[in-house]
Amino acid sequence: QSLLPPGYTLRALRSNDYERGFLQVLEVLTEVGGHTKEEFTEQFNYLKKHNHEYHTITITEDAKDQVVAVGTILVERKFVHKNGLVGHIEDIAVNSNQQGKKLGLRIIQALKFIGAERGCYKVILDCSEKNVPFYEKCGFKQKEVEMAWYV
Ligand code: ACO
Repeated sequence: QSLLPPGYTLRALRSNDYERGFLQVLEVLTEVGGHTKEEFTEQFNYLKKHNHEYHTITITEDAKDQVVAVGTILVERKFVHKNGLVGHIEDIAVNSNQQGKKLGLRIIQALKFIGAERGCYKVILDCSEKNVPFYEKCGFKQKEVEMAWYV
């Protein structure tokens, strides 16, 4: 079920993925910010220190040693559902020249697995209307409405 195409590897984000184009993959989503290596490392170290809450994974293309797909699940602690855990899937991105090879699906399958292993009672995410069919293929159902407030 979770077979990658040959020549690709799925693994946790590494401290030297800055050099492997991790932030460039995120540019398919939104403005990323032109980090220096130090700015990337500062955030990486925070996530590492909180690695029971933040799980960021990547798929790399082995031949080029480049990151081509990324995603994160954030595990939130709640009081409801008796101190329940909810997984939030964030920042899913596949390089534009690598889309359509099921890399996005493999990222989501891996994040759902992590969420289930961590004991989340549900895993949720926000997405645009045009990505609804993709997430349905990944086993999600449309529910509720997203609200946003920009500072
Ligand atoms: N409309 C309809 N079906 C789609 C779409 C779409 N927009 N995108 C993918 N699918 C289908 C595929 O056809 C495939 O179906 P199949 O199994 O019947 O062949 C299935 O969904 C899996 O597709 P993948 O090949 O895994 O998709 P891909 O690797 O291209 O990743 C993604 C999809 C993540 C949306 C990618 O196109 C991308 O990075 N887009 C730009 C950034 C983006 O929008 N990210 C999601 C933001 S939402 C969030 O982060 C929570």
